[in-house]
Order: sequence, then structure tokens, then C-alpha cells
Amino acid sequence: MEEEMAILEVKNLCKSFGGLQALKNIDIEIQKNKIHGLIGPNGAGKSTFFNVVSGLYPPTDGNIYFKSKEITNLPAEEITRMGISRTFQAGKLVPNLTVLDNVMSGKYHISPNPVKSFFFQPSQFKNQEKDIKTSALEMLKFIGISDFAERWTSELVWVERQLVQIARALISSPDLLMLDEPTSGMGIDESKAVMDIIRRIRNMGITVIVVSHDMNLIPEISDRITVLDFGNKISEGSPEQIQKDPRVLEAYLGENK
Ligand SMILES: Nc1ncnc2c1ncn2[C@@H]1O[C@H](COP(=O)(O)OP(=O)(O)OP(=O)(O)O)[C@@H](O)[C@H]1O
Ligand SMILES: [Mg+2]
Repeated sequence: MEEEMAILEVKNLCKSFGGLQALKNIDIEIQKNKIHGLIGPNGAGKSTFFNVVSGLYPPTDGNIYFKSKEITNLPAEEITRMGISRTFQAGKLVPNLTVLDNVMSGKYHISPNPVKSFFFQPSQFKNQEKDIKTSALEMLKFIGISDFAERWTSELVWVERQLVQIARALISSPDLLMLDEPTSGMGIDESKAVMDIIRRIRNMGITVIVVSHDMNLIPEISDRITVLDFGNKISEGSPEQIQKDPRVLEAYLGENK
């Protein structure tokens, strides 16, 4: 059945930084067209999971398959071209650019050789630029921040940066979008708006993995949740199962001690 298909399969994934094992033998399957929550205390390995899947860091061991093709050790650009896009916990944007240019840069990033296209096919490049600008404006509209287009990224506050990052990640037309703490620093109303955006993204046929500490957000929007703790997968299941799991409660209580 189409809906039960895994879009991402991670097998025995390990990532060490020197002696520190940030991910230990992780197996995860992400089902197509679902919202999958990834939670765990600070330092659990959530961002590292994104960094390895998106090709930013090579894994120490294990295999990653996307749409049934192996992507382990492929360059990050290639992985983006294949349809995986992400945001960063640190609100990473290109400085000294407008918001519109920042969103557009999410598309140039995946063009095979933008400089070559510019010198050898100037008219085609100009048309391409027009199309990219049009879709960047559509992305800003989709997120509800059309009025940000001409602002400089340096003048955005934290919450605004988070929204621009989502628009930037969407312009490459991903099949899988990985959001790292998309509601961090947000109040209830802002978080609700982001939840709505995440649902609308899923309804467009994009699979979403959301990393979050926000215990209001995660159970409400996730179809399925995986819990990491010290690099181990300690639990997985529906939001109801996760909320009752004693191992999860213990991991979170431990954090608050
Ligand atoms: N580039 C790196 N070099 C060395 N150690 C790293 C690196 N990236 C992550 N780590 C370590 O790996 C572990 C997992 O970090 P990670 O950032 O994945 O955690 P996290 O679950 O995202 O935590 P948080 O909720 O605080 O964002 C931590 O101990 C961290 O210090
Ligand atoms: Mg993190």
C-alpha cells in the first residue's frame, strides 16, 4: 500500500565524534506522507541524525536509503537534489542578503553548476532566475511572510529567521523535509501557526521529520514518534504510546534533576 511505504530507511546508523558516540546503532523507518516526531533530551543525537542523513557528516557506520536508493556518503548537494531538505537549529541564513535572495539561494544550491550556466547560457539563466524568484515569492506567501521579502536577514529576529528557513528549505521541492526545532523561542500562538504550516506541508505530499523539545507540539502533530537518549533509540510509537512509556518518562525526568 502506497501510504505504508517507507521514504527513508536508516539501518544500524552510528556516528562518533572521537570517543563520543552520538548515534548508536540506530534503525528508523520514516513512512511516506507522515509527520514523524524526533524527540529526546539535550545531547541525545537529534541534530546529529539530521546532519548525517542530510550528508553534512559521514556516518561512522550504517546505511541510509531514500526512496529505496542508498544515499550513505553522498555529497550534501546530491542528497538535496534527490529530495531531502532541512532547516538548522541555529537559524542558519546567508548574511548580507535580503530574505527573498536567501530563499532563492535554496534553489541555486541544487543547480548543478550555476556559475557555468551564467557564463554559457545567459538568456536561459535569466529566465531561470525569474522562475526561481516567482517560486521564492510563492514560498514566502505559503509561510505567510510575503512582507519580509525585501528585508535584510541581519535585521530578522530569531522567530522570523525560523520561518524564512522553512521557506528556503521548501524551494528545492523536497519529498522529505527535516525541521530542527522549528518552534524554538516561540510563544503559543506562533507555535500554533508553525504547526499549521507543518500540516499544510504534509498535506502537499511532503513527508516531515520534526525535531522538537516542545511537548505541546510533538504529540499533537506527529503520526509517529521516535525517542533518542544518549545516542540510543529508547522508544518508538504513536504519541499515546510514547507518552505512557516509562523509559521516556525516565529520560525526561533525568534531564530535570
Ligand atoms: N560536530 C561535533 N563535534 C563533536 N561533538 C559533537 C558534534 N556535533 C554533536 N556533537 C556531540 O554529539 C552529541 C549529540 O549532539 P546533538 O547536537 O546531536 O544533540 P541534540 O539531540 O540535537 O541536542 P539538543 O536538544 O541540545 O539540540 C552531543 O554530546 C554533542 O556534544
Ligand atoms: Mg539539536
